[in-house]
Amino acid sequence: MLQSNLSIGPNGHLLFAGQDTVALAERYGTPLYLLDEERVRANCRLYTRPFARCFAPGSLPYYSSKALCFKALYPILLEEGMGADVVSGGELLTALAAGFPAEKLCFQGNNKTPEEIRLGVEKRVGLFTVDNLLELERLDAEAARAGIRQRVLLRLTPGIDPHTFAAVNTGRIDCQFGVPVETGQAREFILRALRMPHLEVAGYHCHIGSQIFDFQPFADAAQIVLDVAAAVRDEAGYTPSVLNLGGGFGVRYKEDDPVVDIPACIERLSGILARLCEERGLPLPAVSMEPGRSIVADAGVTLYTAGPVKVIEGYRSYVVVDGGMSDNPRYALYQAPYTVLNASRAGDPCDGEISIAGRCCETGALIQENVPMARPKTGEIVAVLVTGAYNYSMASNYNRVCRPPIVLLSGGKSRVAVRRETWADMTACDL
Ligand code: LLP
Repeated sequence: MLQSNLSIGPNGHLLFAGQDTVALAERYGTPLYLLDEERVRANCRLYTRPFARCFAPGSLPYYSSKALCFKALYPILLEEGMGADVVSGGELLTALAAGFPAEKLCFQGNNKTPEEIRLGVEKRVGLFTVDNLLELERLDAEAARAGIRQRVLLRLTPGIDPHTFAAVNTGRIDCQFGVPVETGQAREFILRALRMPHLEVAGYHCHIGSQIFDFQPFADAAQIVLDVAAAVRDEAGYTPSVLNLGGGFGVRYKEDDPVVDIPACIERLSGILARLCEERGLPLPAVSMEPGRSIVADAGVTLYTAGPVKVIEGYRSYVVVDGGMSDNPRYALYQAPYTVLNASRAGDPCDGEISIAGRCCETGALIQENVPMARPKTGEIVAVLVTGAYNYSMASNYNRVCRPPIVLLSGGKSRVAVRRETWADMTACDL
């Protein structure tokens, strides 16, 4: 099995977090998102423990809410000692509504609206990551209005290509995030920020991309940012006390994806950072990262019920499930790979290939193509693995399909954390 929270029950059903997925599908209906709380906790510890051991005091991993955001997640993150990053008023208010402390939030985003900036300041979020000059000015004015000095990180673009797929590659120079180092604009941006009376520059932020399986691209990015830090220190006497290296490590969607030893990578990174700082005569900053995918992806499984099976003679076979790109747009968007299992007969041998199609009305609305598996029959439960990240958070009401519920699994029990949308919800905003 792809991951240790999966197994096969005596009846051949797929067990997830020790629970029978076919029984869960019956109880809660399909499509259904399941989330294994213990796995979320274990994934948090892959960061919190080495962070405490290897990095300077004050270092903190911030969970990246964009991967998956709903209220019941935040008490878990808090108990595990994580901070959280948010990129919108919606994510911010979700975290706060769940009792997450504002001072452990970091507000990201490349075009926070004036209302969002005001909200963040009013709620006293601990840190803003400022993406651009316009935001710098708006935030300074808002902090002045509130009579506070807002702590900020400055988002720099180091121009690293971490060899990940283009759609989620945010560290290249030519992109819409942050201020580029190579053109000299980052230096000007920092000097400007240091003159802002109502902002306290805590340090620098960079993010180079997602699905990264190695510590080296993070070290390369850190080197570029620390070069800027040293130049600014020489020019303006300022040294950063925080260095945020952006998103976390990659996850395995399929058996042949590499396994990342996250604590080992963090340990290597800490050694490299110490050397880079020493070489530049910089004090060791507190380090942050913003893992999203690696916290929740393998804690999630999506269940569907197989509908029609279509055998296109001489071509291929499709099973159409009762969800699709409305709950998981990642194949349609990125041709993202997934492991798909027949949850009703998880132990059965593969008897051919089948493409898993969704119910949304377009040809590209597939979940996965040509999957070798025990081909589902109508009524059987189909499980798509490793769907905890960027599935629910990217779900839509395309075709006015209702989004599935999220059921949290913990200690052999299950509970609805996000209810299923209803047809009434589909017209709730219509006047
Ligand atoms: N911090 C920043 C500034 C980010 O832009 C991202 C992801 C993260 C943290 C979290 O990175 P992670 O640990 O999850 O790799 N929708 C795409 C992923 C887009 C990620 C964008 N930024 C997908 O479905 O693969």
